[in-house]
Amino acid sequence: MDFKMEIAKLISAAINADVQEVADALKIPPDPTMGDFAFSCFKLAKELRQAPPVIAKDIASKIEPDMPEFLEKTDIAGPYLNFFVKRAAFAKAVLSEITAKGDKYGSSDIGAGKTIVMDYSSPNIAKRMHIGHLYSTVIGAALNRINNHLGYNVVGINYLGDWGTQFGKLIVAFKSWGKEEDVVQGGVEELERLYVKFHVEVEANPQLEADARAWMLRMQKGDEEALRLWEWFKEISITEYEKMYKRLNIPFDSYRGESYYNDKMGAVVDEIRDKGLLKESEGAMIVDLEEYKMPPCLILRSDGGTLYPTRDIAAAFDRKQMYDFHKSLYVTDMRQSLHFAQFFKVIGLMGYPWENDMVHVPYGLLSFEGDNLSSRKGNTLILADLFDQAAEKVLGIISEKNPGLADKETVAEQVGTGAIVFSALYNTRIKDTVFSWDRIFAFDGETSPYVQYTHARCSSVLNKAQMDYADADPAKLATGEEFELIKTLHIFSEKVAEAAAKYEPFIISRYVMQVARAYNKFYHDNPILRADEDVQKARLMLTKCTKDVIAVALGLLGIKAPDVM
Ligand code: ARG
Repeated sequence: MDFKMEIAKLISAAINADVQEVADALKIPPDPTMGDFAFSCFKLAKELRQAPPVIAKDIASKIEPDMPEFLEKTDIAGPYLNFFVKRAAFAKAVLSEITAKGDKYGSSDIGAGKTIVMDYSSPNIAKRMHIGHLYSTVIGAALNRINNHLGYNVVGINYLGDWGTQFGKLIVAFKSWGKEEDVVQGGVEELERLYVKFHVEVEANPQLEADARAWMLRMQKGDEEALRLWEWFKEISITEYEKMYKRLNIPFDSYRGESYYNDKMGAVVDEIRDKGLLKESEGAMIVDLEEYKMPPCLILRSDGGTLYPTRDIAAAFDRKQMYDFHKSLYVTDMRQSLHFAQFFKVIGLMGYPWENDMVHVPYGLLSFEGDNLSSRKGNTLILADLFDQAAEKVLGIISEKNPGLADKETVAEQVGTGAIVFSALYNTRIKDTVFSWDRIFAFDGETSPYVQYTHARCSSVLNKAQMDYADADPAKLATGEEFELIKTLHIFSEKVAEAAAKYEPFIISRYVMQVARAYNKFYHDNPILRADEDVQKARLMLTKCTKDVIAVALGLLGIKAPDVM
């Protein structure tokens, strides 16, 4: 039973308003003495030309004579109409829903029959993934799982940057200084080394530049050797990226990258031209966007070469045709915002209303506190190193604090990666953030280790009790802390929907933090194992429900919930 929705229905019947609008205006007051749900009459006041307290009183007088079973009372506080639910009925409804739904708790089917295409991570191949790929990867994957929880069919696309002049250079470098077995051994790191060497050597030997252009031309013309090498570089890159994706549990359905559109852009350019949108400017072909207060969108270079926007337009058509998407999301840092706005507009000008179904999901910049990252080379920090260091640090902490823990390495990996992912998903996307090792591991801070620890605490309580609580009576849960915790568990589905609507995984991170805090407060003030048997059973059931909700919420973020820590 969705209590908020039930109350919204009562109000909307009383004032003849839209249920969803009412539900949106129903809030959970931070101070529980103000009620469990509060309806603000401010907005209605304008519409109805009445003072808010008068409206509140009117609604109350219509609801009270026929108070439903689950409501204790209503209370008018200034412009607010506050509702108090019957705690026993509430506890029973919430706990039985969590128990019944299990890992589907908080899910819905509002997305049923609709497809959301998501473009995230999308690194440029032949380079190792670095810190710059962290946000796109984890934000994209979290939104994928969140939308999936809402019943959408989600298609995760890794739009690899797998075409461009850099491959001509890489082929020259490999043929001049590379060895097959070194590349097989060293993987992408070796490719990177060769690429860097090219840039060093070309200073003294400009002929290399011409050679690279020649190889690129051979690639474009379909030369067998050129394409074989390029395919091989691509394979090595994907194999390595997949290790990272597996480590972080990042889902993808397609690796269709930029190169796939090589022979598909001609048709797009023709259509843009046929629709009278293509203009010449300084030798290049553009779509003028001055009317929309944007610089022109570049379609063809002066040498006829295609560009990043051209490929993206071709890819957008491909996705629309393949998946007939309800929405198509692109997760990149905000420096690409203009690029997306421009090519979305071009598609709109071409006459396609689904221009408006494409959404750029931008995020801010990440920087580092201090410079204590041992494997920092130049300015890039390699992603795999970052996660290795995190796991290592956690292993150190465990070895010191809990040396007897079984399977320490697995737990260290789960807590280490969790800490980084959680910190990347803890703030609104657009905010620039500073990474600090101290902050992400603080066991008493707003961190994943704190949440994971709470989950492990729940497991340990259940283990110690060794009691069957399946027939527990949730009506026994009547203390303030118990009720607060249950209320927090209750709002999960609302949070999932909000996170999806705003493309903001941090709503889930903050939520799971709130659950962990509420549990720890309950745990601190309410004895479980020393309570009378019927109370003990109810508290164990509450513990089990909390544990499950934490695991589901962390799971949406891509974080594991260990049972011991
Ligand atoms: N490969 C690009 C980069 O590394 C990101 C691609 C984003 N997706 C897109 N459809 N443009 O910056």
